[in-house]
Amino acid sequence: MADKEKTYTLTNDQTGESFQLPLVEGTMGPPCIDIRTLYAKAGVFTLDPSFTATGSCKSKITYIDGEEGILMHRGYDIKDLSENSNYLEVCYLLLNGELPDKKQMEQFEYNITHHTMVHEQVHAFFRGFRRDAHPMSIMCGTVGALSSFYHDSLDIWDARQREISAHRLIAKIPTLAAMTMKYAMGQPFVYPRNDLSYAANFLHMCFSVPAEEYKVSPVMEEAMDNILILHADHEQNASTSTVRIAGSSQANPFACIASGITSLWGPAHGGANQAVLEMLEEIGSKDRIPEFIERAKDKDDPFRLMGFGHRVYKNYDPRAAVLKKNCDEVLEELGVDNEPLLEIARELERIALEDPYFVERKLFPNVDFYSGIILKAMGFPSSMFTVLFAVARTVGWISQWKEMVEESPALKIGRPRQLYTGHTERKYVPIDKR
Ligand code: SDX
Repeated sequence: MADKEKTYTLTNDQTGESFQLPLVEGTMGPPCIDIRTLYAKAGVFTLDPSFTATGSCKSKITYIDGEEGILMHRGYDIKDLSENSNYLEVCYLLLNGELPDKKQMEQFEYNITHHTMVHEQVHAFFRGFRRDAHPMSIMCGTVGALSSFYHDSLDIWDARQREISAHRLIAKIPTLAAMTMKYAMGQPFVYPRNDLSYAANFLHMCFSVPAEEYKVSPVMEEAMDNILILHADHEQNASTSTVRIAGSSQANPFACIASGITSLWGPAHGGANQAVLEMLEEIGSKDRIPEFIERAKDKDDPFRLMGFGHRVYKNYDPRAAVLKKNCDEVLEELGVDNEPLLEIARELERIALEDPYFVERKLFPNVDFYSGIILKAMGFPSSMFTVLFAVARTVGWISQWKEMVEESPALKIGRPRQLYTGHTERKYVPIDKR
């Protein structure tokens, strides 16, 4: 006997009518009420403007337990991956669902490594930007334009073309990111090198100059690889949801990733890592922390404690915990002794986590709170911090896009409804009668 379908019953208290809706359960996390038949059955929509209680899709890629502060990719805990894996292996896992064996890893690494160059014409795109253009504005433009170079891999219904596009995006995004950094500095672009790891190659393209030999520091390589792992994917966050809704119209994968980059740029999202560093610099000293804590609590002040709070985590963001632990090690190994911003960050965290306002609202440090301090110590300008987030998150975006295109039933365009609160019908009034 098949299990009796689990349902929720919705009752209209005005008419007494009841409607049964299926309850669907996943492998972990809260079950969902499937409301796809709600309008047909009851003539009503649901209203959830920022999707605080709405599941937009089924997914097997990432799971977050916000209450417990848990993050898993394909069942592997982020701490386990951060300690034992590397970014390219995590890319394979996110894209394909399983950790690769040795042969699969070698093939994947070869494919990514041999797609890192961009077409020489892309260099011309940069010339149109001012040197002081925000690097994220250049990333939005150049990533979207990439589709014009790859007409051979834009058919989203062809599995091989989806795979090629995914490999091209993962491979080329660090090259474009490094080019934005060099362009801002007025230094020549540095070509990728196939003898370096993904993280080392990125550092080489960012920091080497033609005038002298550049040796990638193993400490920097390890720190970079770990930062990429920690930012790789994060369920249906704002930028991933943007990629999914763009992909639902059957837009090509390069255009979809460009849409993700635009959404990530916002200071409430990926732009927070740059905003955290600017906030710590504005605070300037520990004795000014109480002033900023009060501002963060003042409803009339738009100031928020950047790097604090999260829509899902109501506990310590596990990624922030890893970065906080790494901070000391990386700064010491980079010879950046007692970075004053780290002292301010630590004291700010201590005070905030004791303050009832933050405790009641379960506001903890998120991934952006410590990342900027490490990136600054590594020599990146704060304007590059969100670009680095975009480099890391590209694999998450393209994995979620691929899952959406490949899931069955066939891809449906995302088209939310609304609660209309505007005028009812009224007649046009000629201007001389108004
Ligand atoms: C990322 O979604 C993801 O997974 C994103 C991300 C990923 O990997 O993709 O994890 C990456 O974007 C991390 C978040 C980076 N953003 C910041 O650090 C910016 C500062 N944080 C806030 O803007 C805010 O916490 C959000 C945007 C992160 C979350 O906002 P929510 O869930 O919409 O929460 P909310 O605005 O409804 O806040 C709830 C309450 C409010 O107070 P009350 O109205 O209940 O009195 O908490 C307050 C807020 O005013 N609050 C803060 C605060 N964050 C929330 N007050 C002061 N400082 C803050 N940082």
